[in-house]
Amino acid sequence: MSTTPSSVRIVEVGARDGLQNEKTIVPAPVKIELIDRLSDTGLQTIEATSFVSPKWIPQLADATEVYTAIWKKPGVRYPVLVPNLQGYERARAAGAAEIAVFTAASEAFNRKNVNASIDESIERFGPVLERAKADGVAVRGYVSTVLGCPYQGEVAITDVVRIARRLHDLGCYEISLGDTIGIGTPGKARAMLAAVAQQVPMTALAVHFHDTRGQALANILACLELGVAVVDASVSGAGGCPYARGATGNVATEDVAYMLHGMGISTGLDMNKLIDTGRWLSARLGRVNNSKVGVAAA
Ligand code: HMG
Ligand code: MG
Repeated sequence: MSTTPSSVRIVEVGARDGLQNEKTIVPAPVKIELIDRLSDTGLQTIEATSFVSPKWIPQLADATEVYTAIWKKPGVRYPVLVPNLQGYERARAAGAAEIAVFTAASEAFNRKNVNASIDESIERFGPVLERAKADGVAVRGYVSTVLGCPYQGEVAITDVVRIARRLHDLGCYEISLGDTIGIGTPGKARAMLAAVAQQVPMTALAVHFHDTRGQALANILACLELGVAVVDASVSGAGGCPYARGATGNVATEDVAYMLHGMGISTGLDMNKLIDTGRWLSARLGRVNNSKVGVAAA
């Protein structure tokens, strides 16, 4: 019996993962318009920004301005990235009702990304999760470099499983497994997800593929067949990670939605509005549209 889901929730990460990696700083009004447009496409979850150190990620230094100004469409969730208690307090002061914490399966990457070992970064989440629980704030967790690391190379599946399990045990309602540098292929993606799903329920897992080597849709398909029903994507394929050289954009939301709809899997997304938003964003950023579906529709 197929375990492929009949509906998928797409978590839109373009406003955060996409814009954190732009060379020039995107003005706050463009970010706000992007999120407002996305809110009108049928998306249920839109990651809005990051309350990280503005010295580390100047591209998102305007997190408070952006978060407070966006349209909070009823029924849509707008999580924000938080690395520590300071970020949590800033996020809450701006009104955030959902956050995402992030660590990695590779020590070398985590040091570059958050200046801490994996254990230290998870220790920082302890008080964040306690506060979030008391405040009724939902917490998502990311594990990066699940299929390879730009600094250490191979990443053991056992490390991915261990970190995913720790985040879940700490209280993250969903764990997003990130192929940060888009290095994985379907067999490896499937093996990694299958191993994690032995320790964390599939209903609490999401996949997050960067498309650096054009493998993202194939990897997503392999994971859908195992039953994953939450997929991260970024409109127009915007994205990357400033601390993972060579990590290009996330898989494009339009392309994921097109594939899913073609397979009869519902997403609740309005393709035309999504394509328009991707084309609008590419034009505003003055760069090519990385969505094949977006380009084909032009
Ligand atoms: P640090 O320098 O070790 O931190 O950075 P610190 O605690 O020593 O503080 C240094 C300074 O930063 C202090 O200011 C703090 O106040 C300030 P100073 O006294 O020098 O003026 N600071 C903050 N300011 C605002 N908000 C905060 C905050 N925290 C400290 N929250 C830290 C440690 C974690 C803060 C830093 O390394 C950082 O912000 N890193 C963020 C890196 C990042 O955002 N990477 C991209 C996101 S992860 C990703 O893209 C992967 C993902 O997409 C999944 C995948 O693809 O795999 C999620
Ligand atoms: Mg990412």
